[in-house]
Amino acid sequence: MQSRAPKKPRLPETRVYTASAPGKVILFGEHAVVFGRPAIAVPVTQVRASVTVASAAEGNGLTIVATDVDRILRLCEAPQDDPLAAVARLTLERLGQNEPNAVLSIQSTVPIASGMGSGAAVSAAISRGLAQFLGATLSPDHISSIVFEIERFHHGTPSGIDNTVIAFEHPVFFVPGRQIEVLVPAKSFTLLIADTGLRSTTRAVVEQVRAAWQMDRSRYERLFDRIGTIATTARSAIELGAIQQLGPLMDENHRLLQDLNVSSTDLDRLVDAARGAGAAGAKMSGAGKGGNMIALAHVPDLQRVTRALSDAGATRVLATVVEARQK
Ligand code: MEV
Repeated sequence: MQSRAPKKPRLPETRVYTASAPGKVILFGEHAVVFGRPAIAVPVTQVRASVTVASAAEGNGLTIVATDVDRILRLCEAPQDDPLAAVARLTLERLGQNEPNAVLSIQSTVPIASGMGSGAAVSAAISRGLAQFLGATLSPDHISSIVFEIERFHHGTPSGIDNTVIAFEHPVFFVPGRQIEVLVPAKSFTLLIADTGLRSTTRAVVEQVRAAWQMDRSRYERLFDRIGTIATTARSAIELGAIQQLGPLMDENHRLLQDLNVSSTDLDRLVDAARGAGAAGAKMSGAGKGGNMIALAHVPDLQRVTRALSDAGATRVLATVVEARQK
């Protein structure tokens, strides 16, 4: 009689899900938006936070692996204020689900602390990935509100623009407390995004602006009003395809951000270099005091402006197209 090979135990099939979220830049209105004025932001899809969620053996619970920052944590042991664990917990709570047996790995190419929404992108990707793994779908609105809670936890008083643009992945015209409005550009335009290489924390810069506002409310309210008007004018220009109006509006917005004392010599140097090389307009973007600036450049000028930005010290220059869409 032939002897039979022993049967191999059947291992449960590994299920793997992936999800991601983009970075963002603020085109008009940063800081004033924290004080209720409108602002415009666009997603930047060249940089993304991505997660993979793979099933793990029964009893293991959820392990979060963030290779970029060298961290491995088990959800059941993570402190309450850990940002990665907090987004996983909040997502599970909103879905009414228990902690799954899974390994969630995160990687991100969104530069940290440089005005491109790295924290919000990581939170959005975790939330999306976890929901998919659990067979649930979270709408952009739900993702946005989960990310907002996490931003609030870490940034104090976020306006809500970062979580909105990152969750919806469309250009947005954002007014705090109002229904989000997706912007539909009538013509495409290209932005160059240049990094000063200097990190800055949104919380600190927003607090600095609040302290200055408390000292001189009428001056700051006037600056915020003007920035809000620029965002509203820019919105019409984008929707009408009047791209030539955007450059001067960016220049004026940058001057007002200098008045708010949130720019820096490095940001100003890059802004001047872009304009000197033929950019139609340029401004700092995000919280400021470091991080990134943006320049609007027409196609024939793109290479020259990119070179000028690198020569002026930019550690990285990205080009992103804000695509025209049909209404
Ligand atoms: C940060 O990307 C933009 C700020 O206006 C802060 C916020 O809106 O929460 C500086």
